[in-house]
Amino acid sequence: MEENKDLIPVCEPLLNGNELKYVTEAVTTGWISSSGPFVRKFEEGFARYCGARYGVGVCNGTTALHLAVVSLGLGSGDEVVIPDFTMASTAFALCYAGAMPVFVDAEPDTWNIDPRKIEEKITPRTKAIMAVSLFGHPCDMDQVQAIADRHGLIVVEDAAESHGAEYRGRKTGSLARVTAFSFFANKNLTTGEGGMVVTDDEDLYRKCLYYRNVCFPPDEPRNYRHDDIGFNYRLSNLHAAIGLAQVEKADDYCRMRIHNHGLYRKHLDGIGGVTLQATRDTVLHVPWMNGMVVDPDAYGRTRDELMEQLARNNIETRLFFLGMHRQPALLKYGCDGSGNYPVSDGLADNGMYLPSASGLREEQIRHICRIIREFQR
Ligand SMILES: Cc1ncc(COP(=O)(O)O)c(C=O)c1O
Repeated sequence: MEENKDLIPVCEPLLNGNELKYVTEAVTTGWISSSGPFVRKFEEGFARYCGARYGVGVCNGTTALHLAVVSLGLGSGDEVVIPDFTMASTAFALCYAGAMPVFVDAEPDTWNIDPRKIEEKITPRTKAIMAVSLFGHPCDMDQVQAIADRHGLIVVEDAAESHGAEYRGRKTGSLARVTAFSFFANKNLTTGEGGMVVTDDEDLYRKCLYYRNVCFPPDEPRNYRHDDIGFNYRLSNLHAAIGLAQVEKADDYCRMRIHNHGLYRKHLDGIGGVTLQATRDTVLHVPWMNGMVVDPDAYGRTRDELMEQLARNNIETRLFFLGMHRQPALLKYGCDGSGNYPVSDGLADNGMYLPSASGLREEQIRHICRIIREFQR
């Protein structure tokens, strides 16, 4: 396909460090499977970056979540509270294990799970809260943890979208008992496809290693006898080679995302009816995506009309997630979709992602914002 030189993609990866050098090393040495040395280096490097002891690299963020869930022993009969407004993988990872996701509406400003609405969803079957740090903004982990402590629940963080973000000076990956990351191509740090479970808990770490590798007994000679049903969620050395190079440049990439978000704020300033995700003063917000909500009354156009206008100008955007209570797959699974989720519904119906790559240039952001400004009615 011919490249469209003028297109501003919604989010393309930036691979301008040692990626090619390390991948070349993996290829020339023949270490392309998960047994190669970059896997351990990437795991150690990323865990250290998060301020955590252990990292377990896996093949994507969804499997990272599932591995965390299984290693925690969550399963049939267990309820886990999750935000309604998230990517379906958060809920699916629980369904794979036979557990039941229970939904909580979003906060109106950060769009993360609303801690004020968690306790009403807790039952004797609740075992954990899976807090998602959306679009690079950590959720209010002190409040989530306090609720969890009151009810004896485990806290899991889905930080698939929040590499490098901080809550009260601590990075995601060090805020919960266990955290799952995605390294999909559009993430703040990427391996193309990939994920990682990060934890300080040695026992949990060993369980993750075990389940990731089809439950091969870790300390015995390989006799192909399995005591448990495991998964092949291993990360290849090729992907880890890219990941290590990305970790080396993590601070640069996070700085670029923060800078670009600031430019959007500046150039959208004064346009009525468009709102970006809020940034609380307790966090370092490292925007994965620059999410924007369009109020059709105040802006004079709908979100869909604006997306079409941007598309006519070669600017890619994406719809926000559809709330979990509106997901046919989850309703079929048996999730309770009743009740009201006004914030989540408003986000799903009026939200969109603006182009968000680390390498976006100011003139591109100015151009995007000018189109948004001129299209207002
Ligand atoms: C909140 C959230 N959780 C989980 C995932 C799943 O990650 P992956 O696409 O790597 O499986 C994503 C992916 O974007 C996500 O946004």
